[in-house]
Amino acid sequence: MSRRILVEPFFDPKTWTVSYVVSDKASGRAAVIDPVLDFEMKSGSTSTESADKVLAYLRDKRLKVQWILETHAHADHLSAARYIQQEAGGLVAIGEHIREVQAVFKKLYNLERNFLPDGSQFDHLFKDGEVFRIGEVEATALLVPGHTPADMAYLADGDVFVGDTLFMPDVGTARADFPGGDAHALYRSIRRILDLPPQTRMYVCHDYPPKGRGPQWETTVAEQRAKNVHVHDGVSEDEFVAMRKARDATLEVPTLILPSIQVNVRAGHLPPADDNGVAYLRIPLNALPRTK
Ligand SMILES: [Fe+2]
Repeated sequence: MSRRILVEPFFDPKTWTVSYVVSDKASGRAAVIDPVLDFEMKSGSTSTESADKVLAYLRDKRLKVQWILETHAHADHLSAARYIQQEAGGLVAIGEHIREVQAVFKKLYNLERNFLPDGSQFDHLFKDGEVFRIGEVEATALLVPGHTPADMAYLADGDVFVGDTLFMPDVGTARADFPGGDAHALYRSIRRILDLPPQTRMYVCHDYPPKGRGPQWETTVAEQRAKNVHVHDGVSEDEFVAMRKARDATLEVPTLILPSIQVNVRAGHLPPADDNGVAYLRIPLNALPRTK
């Protein structure tokens, strides 16, 4: 069967993130998935080099942005959703459970009173199983919690964009130790994805390639079921949870977690400026567990 969509990946080597443009060949309408806003911690400066590559592609292919889809509130990069929207349009969307994530982080950062943890910062909140369209192509939003309580995967024309649930087969799976994370839920979400037809193309949101291979981001359900080092067929929920907990206990806090999440729960808006016109990020002291 001929493919109705075109998938263009954009790999950011600084954060190991893969963003995608998914377009409907017939209508030229597109969804941008997980765009990255570059951020240099040392100088506190944001820049749009990565997002500008996405915009150049959109212009070059004469695509009209309909959606800007976030799989979750990322902890490793700031979202360029609002910048992409400002330059190219589209609705910024995420899963409806983002409200729970916003409530947790409103508290952690002690965000301003009028930041409401109600999802209203986004243009659309997906429910589990919600069907939407990219041009004429049917797409479905699937709730796949575990890495965070709000993670979504997006199915479009038989391809699945899995966010941070599964990584490439030789890397395994995402951590489940962030606030609201749950290794049991992650296992069940992964099994839900792996119940898709075996030939389903799967696109991951990060790659942390082991020595000896370059970054990759495309695999299939069949390949994951046969070879994923953490969750190939035959690994039980209890075995997975034990592995995940042991491994998560060794992982460092992501470098950009504190800057990222406070922008990403705002749907990619920077915090409101102080009365001097400068916007500030907040760093809560002694609130997160220390890097081992
Ligand atoms: Fe993530």
